[in-house]
Amino acid sequence: MSGLFITLEGPEGAGKSTNREYLAERLRSGGLPVLLSREPGGTPLAERIRELLLAPSDEPMASDTELLLMFAARAQHLQQVIRPALAQGQIVICDRFTDATYAYQGGGRGVSEARIAQLETFVQGDLRPDLTLVFDLPVEVGLARAAARGRLDRFEQEGRGFFEAVRQAYLQRAECHPERYRIIDASQPLAVVQQTLDVLVPQVLERVRG
Ligand SMILES: Nc1ncnc2c1ncn2[C@@H]1O[C@H](COP(=O)(O)OP(=O)(O)OP(=O)(O)O)[C@@H](O)[C@H]1O
Ligand SMILES: [Mg+2]
Repeated sequence: MSGLFITLEGPEGAGKSTNREYLAERLRSGGLPVLLSREPGGTPLAERIRELLLAPSDEPMASDTELLLMFAARAQHLQQVIRPALAQGQIVICDRFTDATYAYQGGGRGVSEARIAQLETFVQGDLRPDLTLVFDLPVEVGLARAAARGRLDRFEQEGRGFFEAVRQAYLQRAECHPERYRIIDASQPLAVVQQTLDVLVPQVLERVRG
């Protein structure tokens, strides 16, 4: 038996973390076993790597260091949490995954897609998400939401150009593989975003059961 792997993506402040609980609850009320997790992180060790990645620091982090730490955390998360859950037939909902690496380290930092793809294959083999929801919104709206949340992490301290590149990278990936991605207009009020998710849930259920 193999479960379903759903990832939530999109830039800062798009509402991934706000909506993951909502999505999980909708699926659970449909009687499905849901495991909720996030990246970077999802295990105690991977969460420690997350802290290294997010903490502002005087020493600039090399792009390759950042990239490798992301995949190091991912390797741990896959082995400890994601693969076992999928093997048990669970629906895994993950707040960010490898699309975020293509968007942030690729689009944002300028690491080549080929380099990221090599690590993706190295760490994941042929495992890819079944469905990826991209929460899309204008950069300034997302940054304002993130700023209202409090202290900025190492990524949130980047400039506007960085986040424009992140957004475009997400949209390009979604455009190239329309079968795997759904773009959600995350600039709308929360209630409207959640109505969109309501429409999506029966489709997901159908895919699992069908
Ligand atoms: N549709 C919405 N309209 C208005 N505010 C929203 C909406 N969705 C989320 N928010 C608010 O915006 C803030 C950021 O949301 P959230 O933390 O879910 O974003 P995120 O995508 O997880 O961001 P990050 O990538 O930084 O983790 C929160 O304070 C949340 O309450
Ligand atoms: Mg979040």
